[in-house]
Amino acid sequence: MNNNIDDIIEKMTLEEKVRFCSGTNFWETESLERLSIPSLRFSDGPNGLRKSGEDIIAMSESEAATCFPAPAAYASSWDRELVAKLGNAIADEALAADVQIVLGPGVNIKRSPLGGRNFEYLSEDPYVAGELAVDYIKAMQAKGVGTSVKHFAANNREYRRMEVDTIVDERTLHEIYYPAFEKAIKKAQPWTVMTAYNKLNGYYASEHEELLRQILHDDWKFEGFVVSDWGAVDDRVQALKAGLAVEMPPTGGLSDEKIKLAIEAGELDERVLDERLAAYLRILFKTTAVKQVKTYNQDEHHALAEEIATESIVLLRNEKNILPLNTTDKVAIIGDLADNVRYRGGGSSQVNPTKLDTPLDKLREKAGENIQFARGYSIDGKDEQEQLIKEAESMDKVILFLGLPEEFESEGFDKLHLRLPENQELLVKRITAKNQNVIVVLSNGSPVEMPWRDQVNGIVEIYLGGQAVGGAITKILYGEENPSGKLTETFPLKLEDTPSYLNFNQEKNHVVYQEGIFVGYRYYEKKNMPVLYPFGYGLSYTEFQYDNLKLSANKLQDSDTLNISFTLKNTGKRAGKEVAQVYISDRESSNVRPVKELKGFEKVLLAPGESKTVTIELDPRAFSFYDPEQHAWRVETGSFDILVGSSSEAIHLSETVEVTETVAPKMVYDRNSTVSDVLDDPQNQDKMEELLLSLRGKLVLIPEDEENVDKMMFPMLSDLPLRGLIIFSQGQFTDKELDEFIQSLNN
Ligand code: BGC
Repeated sequence: MNNNIDDIIEKMTLEEKVRFCSGTNFWETESLERLSIPSLRFSDGPNGLRKSGEDIIAMSESEAATCFPAPAAYASSWDRELVAKLGNAIADEALAADVQIVLGPGVNIKRSPLGGRNFEYLSEDPYVAGELAVDYIKAMQAKGVGTSVKHFAANNREYRRMEVDTIVDERTLHEIYYPAFEKAIKKAQPWTVMTAYNKLNGYYASEHEELLRQILHDDWKFEGFVVSDWGAVDDRVQALKAGLAVEMPPTGGLSDEKIKLAIEAGELDERVLDERLAAYLRILFKTTAVKQVKTYNQDEHHALAEEIATESIVLLRNEKNILPLNTTDKVAIIGDLADNVRYRGGGSSQVNPTKLDTPLDKLREKAGENIQFARGYSIDGKDEQEQLIKEAESMDKVILFLGLPEEFESEGFDKLHLRLPENQELLVKRITAKNQNVIVVLSNGSPVEMPWRDQVNGIVEIYLGGQAVGGAITKILYGEENPSGKLTETFPLKLEDTPSYLNFNQEKNHVVYQEGIFVGYRYYEKKNMPVLYPFGYGLSYTEFQYDNLKLSANKLQDSDTLNISFTLKNTGKRAGKEVAQVYISDRESSNVRPVKELKGFEKVLLAPGESKTVTIELDPRAFSFYDPEQHAWRVETGSFDILVGSSSEAIHLSETVEVTETVAPKMVYDRNSTVSDVLDDPQNQDKMEELLLSLRGKLVLIPEDEENVDKMMFPMLSDLPLRGLIIFSQGQFTDKELDEFIQSLNN
C-alpha cells in the first residue's frame, strides 16, 4: 500500500497536491479522478451522526439519525462494552449515510463545571475518559469508519475558544490534559486527531510543532492524519510544517495557494507536503476498503439508545427509599422538561433524532391514570409563572423535572453560574414547602448547585439522555431497571468551591491553569473540602459488599504490573450492577501528588445474593507521576495504598504495596543547579563533598571551626547555586573550574 501511495504522490503535480491540504466543501475532502483518488466525508459527532448538506454548517439542518445520550451521560455508565456498542451503531449509521470519518470522541477534560460543552466530554478524570474513548474508537473503526479524537489539546472553555492562549505547565499537561488522547492513540489508533481552536503555551494547537510532531507523532506514534477543527488554522504553512494534513473547512483556495507559494519560494520543503499527503491517503484508502452497508435498523438503534440512557442514569438521592415507585402510586409529574425534554446538547452534537420518547409520554404509558401532569414552569421562561406554579401546588406525590435550558450551556459559550433558572428554583421551594415526597429528575449537561437537596427525598440525574430518554427514566423510576450509573465528575456544593474558580474566563485571551494537576476530585480531596456529590458516586436499589482484597505481590519494581482481586457481593434483593473503582495513593513523594487517583474500574452485574471475584490489572503507569525535571514518567520508591471503593469517597478495602525505582533518574546539571541538588544525587554526592572540602578556607560561607564543617557547612550551602561558589570564593574557584566540575557531573 505504501509503495502505491508513493507512486500516486509521485504522479501528482504540485497544484494537485496542495488541493488535498483542505476540503472541497464544508464536509468533504478533495478527489482526483485522473489518479482514482476518491474524496471522504466527515460528519459530527460523538452521540450520533449529524450529517449536513455540502456547505451547510447550520446545526438544525442535518439528516435524521439516532440521537444517543450525550457523552456526559454515557460516560456515567462506566460500561466499556456498552460504549463499544454505541461506537458500532454510529458506525453503521455512518456507513449507511456514506460518511467515512465521524468527528469524535471528545476527550477534553472538564476543568470547570462552567464549561459550555462539558456535556460533550467524558470526565474530569483522564483515566476514565481515556478508557471509554478507546472502546468507542476500536468499535467504530472495526466497522471501517474512522474517528477523530478531539480537540487536541487543552480546549477546556468555549469563551473566545478560537484565540485564547491556554497556559499549562508540562506536568499538568502530561498528567491531566494529555492522557486520554495518549491512551486513545496508543491503544486504539484513531484514524484522525482533530486539533483544538485555542493556543497552547503561545502557539495555536493547529500549528504546534511540539504537540503535533514531537508528542503525537514521535512519542505516541500516531499513524493517522491530523485535521483542523473547523476554522482553527491561522498560519496554514506553519500548520503543515507542524503536522496538520487537512484544513477544514476550505478557504476557497487561499490556504492552498499559500502552501504552493511557500514551496516555490523555498520556505517549505515539498517533502513535508508529501508526508502529510501520504498520512491522509493511507487513511483514505482504509475507508475505501470497507464494504458499504446501506441500511441500519432504526428500531434497534432506538432500543440501544434507551439501553445506554438507562445504564447511564445516576441515582443521587433516595431517602426513605422513595424510589422505585409502584404503578399504583398516584404521581404528579411537574415540569416543562418532562414534556419539552432536553435530550441533546447544542452545536456539533445536535443530532436530529429519528424519533423522540418524552418522559411524560412514557410515564403515562406506564402508569396511565395514576399520572397527572402540570407544566409548573416554562423552560423558555416566557409563560406566566404564577399561574403555572399554582397549578403545580395542587398535586400530592411529585416528580419534578428540572434542568438547564439550552440558552444556559452549549458549544460556543460557557455557563455563567451553576444555578437552575429562577422560575425552577422558585417552584422547588413552593412545592417542597407543601410536599414531603418530592423526587427531582435533572436534565442538564453539567453539574448544578442544589440548595434544595435536603428538602427532597429523591434526585435522579439523567443528563442529556438522547432520543429514548423517556423510556429509560420511566424504567428507572418504576424499578423495572436498577440504576447503575455513577458520576464521572464531581458535583460541587457551589461554584466558588471549584478548582478553577479564580481564573475561569476571567481574562479574554489568556488563561493560566493555576490549579495545575488538581482538577476535579484531585482538588477537593487535597483541600479536604466537602462536595455535593463526589466523583464516582451513584446509588442502586440494591446493596453491594466488598471483601477479600488480594494483591499478586506486596513488593514491586517500577516496571512490574500488579494484579489485584476482590470479591463483590450483591447483598440486596434485586439484581444490580456495581461500578467498582480502584484508586492509588502514593504515601510519600518528592513532588506534590493528589490524595488518590483512579487507576482501574469494572462494572459488574450481580443477581441477588451472588458474589463475583473482580480482577484488575495495574500497570506501571498507575503508580507514576510525570517528573517535569526529567521530562518523563517516574515511579518513585515507596509505599502505595491500593484503595477499592464504590466512589472516590467510599473506600471499602485497602492494601499496601512497596514499589522500588530501579533506574535512578538522570540529573542534568548547570550553573544554576544548587549544591543540594548534587548532594541529593547518590551518584554525585562524593564529588560535591570533595569540592566543598577543597574550598575550605577559600569560601566565605564555610565555618572556620573544623568540628562544625559537616554539621553547618552542607546545610548552609544547600540552596546555593553552583555559580555562587565563584562569587563567595571571590574568584578563587574559577568559571573554568566550575564548567569542568559540571561536565564531570553530567558525565
Ligand atoms: C467543533 C468540532 C466539530 C466541528 C464540525 C467545530 O466548531 O468544535 O467539535 O467537529 O465544528 O462541526
